[in-house]
Amino acid sequence: MRNLLTKAVAVGAAAILALGAAACSGGREGGSGGDSAKPAKGFAANSLIGVALPSKTSENWVLAGDLFVSGLKEAGFTSDVQYAGASTTVADQQAQISSMITKGAKVIVIGATDAAQLSTQVAQAKQSGATVIAYDRLITNTPDVDYYIAFDNFKVGQLQGQALLDGMKAKKATGPWTVELFSGSPDDNNSGVFFNGAMDVLKPLIDKGDVIVGSGQSDVKQTAIQGWKAEGAQQRMDSLLTSTYSGKKTLDGVLSPNDTLARAIITSIKGAGKPIPVVTGQDSEVESIKSIMAGEQYSTINKDTRKLVAETVKMVKTLQGGGTPEINDSKTYNNGVKVVPSYLLPPVIVTKANAAEAYANDPKLSPLVK
Ligand code: BGC
Repeated sequence: MRNLLTKAVAVGAAAILALGAAACSGGREGGSGGDSAKPAKGFAANSLIGVALPSKTSENWVLAGDLFVSGLKEAGFTSDVQYAGASTTVADQQAQISSMITKGAKVIVIGATDAAQLSTQVAQAKQSGATVIAYDRLITNTPDVDYYIAFDNFKVGQLQGQALLDGMKAKKATGPWTVELFSGSPDDNNSGVFFNGAMDVLKPLIDKGDVIVGSGQSDVKQTAIQGWKAEGAQQRMDSLLTSTYSGKKTLDGVLSPNDTLARAIITSIKGAGKPIPVVTGQDSEVESIKSIMAGEQYSTINKDTRKLVAETVKMVKTLQGGGTPEINDSKTYNNGVKVVPSYLLPPVIVTKANAAEAYANDPKLSPLVK
């Protein structure tokens, strides 16, 4: 894994790097690097904190923005919370980060729209004395990321792969099972990490012939959905149904990286009049929880945004006081230049069976699973 990443970096082509980094980061080897973040010196309690989020491709981003506004205010900071627009996402985010630097932000929290396109901005942020925190999505190909805070994304992928298998086994005790694989946007570093995590579970079964990828499309590049767009997933599923499942072949399961794509995949399958296979997801979106309770989508992942934002605000508060934020992982998330000191939270797999328990403490979601 590291060799491939090194090669991609050496080649230097942005497109290859984006894919290579997406496919390879999240590798479990540590590599060189380690905790290279310098101790912060502290800053005024009402300082400006910048938060640059990607476009609103899923509910968790909408929630995160709202929670950052309220959480940073409560902690005494001034905040500038921005989303990249829907189409010119990279340029938007680059401009937003530059403006946060100009305004004197002391910490810049970034959910990258394109992992590999922010090195200039984060270098400028560091030069201005700001601390850079990669939020949920790693920023690649730069030494200028101080911390990474996220749910363990490789684990998310493993849980999705295992849920796919469990769901298919519950319907048909023995294989071979026929599946299709989907992954997220290639410019989001998480996409490759989720996919690698899922393949960590699925690949041994694919190699044995117990799991068959019906279309043969099992490379992350073939499965990617640009911009995490529902339309893209629906179109790809439509064409897979035509190319591969127009005859008698049964589709047992679909690996979907998130809920938005899962619902688009289910819409496509229903539209073709086919039975709904086991479909995985992620994000605990309201419509997907309803779908799970109705017996359509099989699983989702609970990554409680409230916790992730609260931990990030805690990190900012520690930096403000001149302390060193707590990290709990210093070997997993290699961004191609260094292993970024990380604080990782554990994701939880949710199916109809454990939904009530999983959302017991969530006033918005618990009424949906009673
Ligand atoms: C997040 C997912 C989300 C996806 C699309 C990823 O980086 O980790 O939770 O579904 O982006 O918005």
